[in-house]
Amino acid sequence: MSDDKDKNAQDEIYKEIQDFAKKLQEKYGLRELSARMVTGPEVPLGKIGVEKEPAKEKIELNFNLAPRDIKAELDKYVIKQDAAKKYLANAAFYHYRHIEKELKTGIRQENYQKNNIIMVGNTGVGKTLLLKRLAKILGVPLVLGDATKLSKTGYVGEDVENLVRDLVREAEGNIKLAECGMIFVDEIDKIATDSTIMGRDITGTGVQTELLKPMEETEVELVSTSDPVSMMQGIMAGGKGRRPTINTRNILFIVGGAFPGLPDIIKKRMHSKRVGFKGEVHSESEKTDYLPHVTTEDFVEYGLIQELVGRLPVRVILEDLDVEDFYSILQHSHCAITRQHVHDFSLIDVDLNFTDEALKRIAQLAYEEKTGARGLMTVCEKALADFKYELPGKNIHELSISKDTVNNPQKTLKRVLVIKPLEDFIGQFFNTSGIKLSFSHGAINFLAEKTHLDGLDIVRYCWDRLNGCDRLLEIIDIKEVQISANILKNPMKEIALMVNKNRKKRSR
Ligand SMILES: Nc1ncnc2c1ncn2[C@@H]1O[C@H](COP(=O)(O)OP(=O)(O)O)[C@@H](O)[C@H]1O
Ligand SMILES: [Mg+2]
Repeated sequence: MSDDKDKNAQDEIYKEIQDFAKKLQEKYGLRELSARMVTGPEVPLGKIGVEKEPAKEKIELNFNLAPRDIKAELDKYVIKQDAAKKYLANAAFYHYRHIEKELKTGIRQENYQKNNIIMVGNTGVGKTLLLKRLAKILGVPLVLGDATKLSKTGYVGEDVENLVRDLVREAEGNIKLAECGMIFVDEIDKIATDSTIMGRDITGTGVQTELLKPMEETEVELVSTSDPVSMMQGIMAGGKGRRPTINTRNILFIVGGAFPGLPDIIKKRMHSKRVGFKGEVHSESEKTDYLPHVTTEDFVEYGLIQELVGRLPVRVILEDLDVEDFYSILQHSHCAITRQHVHDFSLIDVDLNFTDEALKRIAQLAYEEKTGARGLMTVCEKALADFKYELPGKNIHELSISKDTVNNPQKTLKRVLVIKPLEDFIGQFFNTSGIKLSFSHGAINFLAEKTHLDGLDIVRYCWDRLNGCDRLLEIIDIKEVQISANILKNPMKEIALMVNKNRKKRSR
């Protein structure tokens, strides 16, 4: 088929879909229709947060913050990374100021170079977190992508364009706002290709090349031809006749990666003139010394194509975080990690808190995970999982996490599951008999073992074991008794022994 014929057939189908979309829209109304299309048919309507019809032509961007205000906002959520915050704040500020000016004056500055950003930092040091906060501060949509996923599908171009389309979804259908959004492509170092191999690896270079056009400027059709839902959405959003597109000129691109081995390359370049020099970076501090000196040449040596690096004028280096930093993150009032768990426990009416020693221990264990601050999540999850599983419906309303709990959650869990109901039992026993009971460590452990094995109801079990003992104890007029594990195992015998012993003592 010739190109013309192709185009005609495409237009025809497009027109048919458009008519169909119009009919659907008339039947359901735009709001219900888009809600249904986003979630699929199985979710009942009314549960979806589409409150108003998306405003398509209006954008409100928050440009009244200076770079230092942006940094101050970032400081509230992100520990350390001062240099990164500064460069990001600058890049974002001047980028959006520029857009604002163009929108106001209507004059397009032809030779404008976008402040696209490359972030170098290990996993879990705050790259994504910084961008999420930045997007929030600026009020622009953000899409997170992964370079390695882009390379796998084969329809490489489609995928990069999908990231652009996702911006429209993030912007709730507001194309103008989507056109001012940010796209983060993580793991870019993983698609670097070995520059020493002739011809280079096709896939990696391919994805890198695919990124070039959108990074500069291109029109991306809102309608992906491979996805019927987005096709319909595109047609609906576009209104009459024209095919809606998203222009990428003002979209800020950020790529990120850990770039292991990059410091070696920098070091080698910086000292290459010295004879007999071995360019290997050994210590962490040395690594931090070299990274800020990274140049385009180094990235190219690493395996990024020249054209890509050329479009990434802003270079942001993130520091590694140590135990102290992890501790600071946990102490931080906006710490998302502990907050999330506090929130989870509040859902089952449990007031969760951490002792200072517990936070220090979590920081230490997280550091040993070697996954950056991400380790904090792993360690917290591990410490709390059993509580999350066992506590719902147990009438327990407070949980304090100590260092011991972090080290051995099971032990604390057992105690928590036993102690609260024991307190209830002690109260009930006192009310009926006037005798004040306490339980030895041995008794608590014995009960903990039993609850764990048998899913035992402690209050009922204790009544079962100690019913009638109050009358025996009354004989000798005892008002306070400590219950041992032995008493629980053999209540009548042990209490009778106690009574006898007491009697003898008295008669002496
Ligand atoms: N500098 C930091 N300050 C505060 N929290 C951080 C920091 N770095 C990482 N975190 C925590 O670790 C989690 C994972 O970090 P993320 O930003 O996703 O790392 P990455 O650098 O791999 O993108 C974040 O959601 C956050 O809770
Ligand atoms: Mg990330």
